[in-house]
Amino acid sequence: MDTRQQKNEMVSSDEWYTPKWIIDELGPFDLDPCAPMEPPYPIAPLSYNKEQDGLAHEWPSTAVVWMNPPYSRAPLRAFVEKLSRHGNGMALLVNRQDNLLFQDIIFPTAASMLFMRHRVKFLRPDGTSGSPFFGSCLVAWGHECDQRLRNCGIEGKYVVLNE
Ligand SMILES: C[S@@+](CC[C@H](N)C(=O)[O-])C[C@H]1O[C@@H](n2cnc3c(N)ncnc32)[C@H](O)[C@@H]1O
Repeated sequence: MDTRQQKNEMVSSDEWYTPKWIIDELGPFDLDPCAPMEPPYPIAPLSYNKEQDGLAHEWPSTAVVWMNPPYSRAPLRAFVEKLSRHGNGMALLVNRQDNLLFQDIIFPTAASMLFMRHRVKFLRPDGTSGSPFFGSCLVAWGHECDQRLRNCGIEGKYVVLNE
């Protein structure tokens, strides 16, 4: 797949799953509110897929949330807004700090972020994996997830956003 095909595929599909090593490094998590219909491995004991709609549910107040949200713009913003209000969790996001998601929601509310040094090899529903044409970053809300991000072994640059 060339870069142009990959870009089209990335924006036309939400089905790019987190490799297990990232969850092993940062977890455990209690809730995955944007889960695949057929997850390749369990991320959290509680999860909602698109039919169950993670936005329609009230998330347990103490849940540590893992979020690799759908890439489509409207649900992406809604999911990140909900996580910022929840205040306890982590998101794996496209490295685009000029967009409004970062400017309006993440920079004012998140505790910290980690700019990943290496491209993530996401899992596809057919069992293959592939790296997108852009980098990724991890964003933490709340003290516990901030500490996990600060102390994890994932290569990259950790920065504090809000004390
Ligand atoms: C980028 S994938 C990440 C999957 C998984 N959270 C992970 O980390 O591997 C985003 C997932 O969100 C699902 N999704 C889309 N809209 C959703 C909704 N309203 N509620 C829950 N899940 C949704 C998609 O089907 C897709 O499987």
